[in-house]
Amino acid sequence: MTRATPVSVNHRRKPARRDSRTEADSGGRPIGVFDSGIGGLTVLKALVELLPGENFVYLGDTARTPYGNKSTEVITRYSRENAEFLLAKGIKLLVVACNTSSAVALDAIASDTAVPVIGVIEPGAQAAAEVSAKGRIGVIGTEATIASGIYTRILKRLRPDAEIYTRACPLLVPLVEEGWTDNEVARRTVEHYLAGLKDSGIDTLLLGCTHYPMLRGLIQQVMGSAVRVVDSAAATARVVRASLARFKLLRSARHGEQVFFVTEMPERFTRVGRRFFGPEVESAVRIER
Ligand code: DGL
Repeated sequence: MTRATPVSVNHRRKPARRDSRTEADSGGRPIGVFDSGIGGLTVLKALVELLPGENFVYLGDTARTPYGNKSTEVITRYSRENAEFLLAKGIKLLVVACNTSSAVALDAIASDTAVPVIGVIEPGAQAAAEVSAKGRIGVIGTEATIASGIYTRILKRLRPDAEIYTRACPLLVPLVEEGWTDNEVARRTVEHYLAGLKDSGIDTLLLGCTHYPMLRGLIQQVMGSAVRVVDSAAATARVVRASLARFKLLRSARHGEQVFFVTEMPERFTRVGRRFFGPEVESAVRIER
């Protein structure tokens, strides 16, 4: 199947902010990434792999996580506050790594933001639409993400012939944070959640939550090798790179750095975060909310 040009999401911005800066200055500014907590580190990992010369500022809203069982209004308010914090750090582009925030709050964030804003939903949906042979696509995510219906809407737009099957899997987030990604409890839970999708005969399964890539091996085993398992992190990173190139914001350095902020429990963030990202998650700064 041919690869379509990646789409950029919510590139609307007010150009005035960049007027006083040269392109080189802009390229040196960090990329902001936020998530409801730790899970967005799977997205940050893909970003750093593809864009190793970039600097990143990551904010995990660990005091208010999870977002996946909260209302649209509350998720939107929290997401806007996260974006404001990162914008005050002088970021050149904002990545909304949280599927739940991307599902319900991306437009609200982009409407008050003067830099490009990229969520994880559209890149993930695009990747799934591209690889699905028969257009029978399953999507799993948090309750709020699935209830928003956004994956179904976007996938139907990209593949009008597609049949979309969705399932909320709320227990997978705490399982992953506990490090239970390959034991019997994890297997039983994954089997339980995926049984209906298996019966539907899907050929592609989209992991619509930051935490699920940590269960990818188990999910692939449960679904069987005939099902393509797609996660949005790598697809999002490709969209970010295309957006930086389009706005001439790429940083031409060999190595960048990652700085971590959290709203609660920095020690837990670094301990669990190392499993998601690697040993580079050495410390995190706690901010007041
Ligand atoms: N980061 C969230 C997401 O990707 C999962 C955790 C939560 O519910 O806050 O949807």
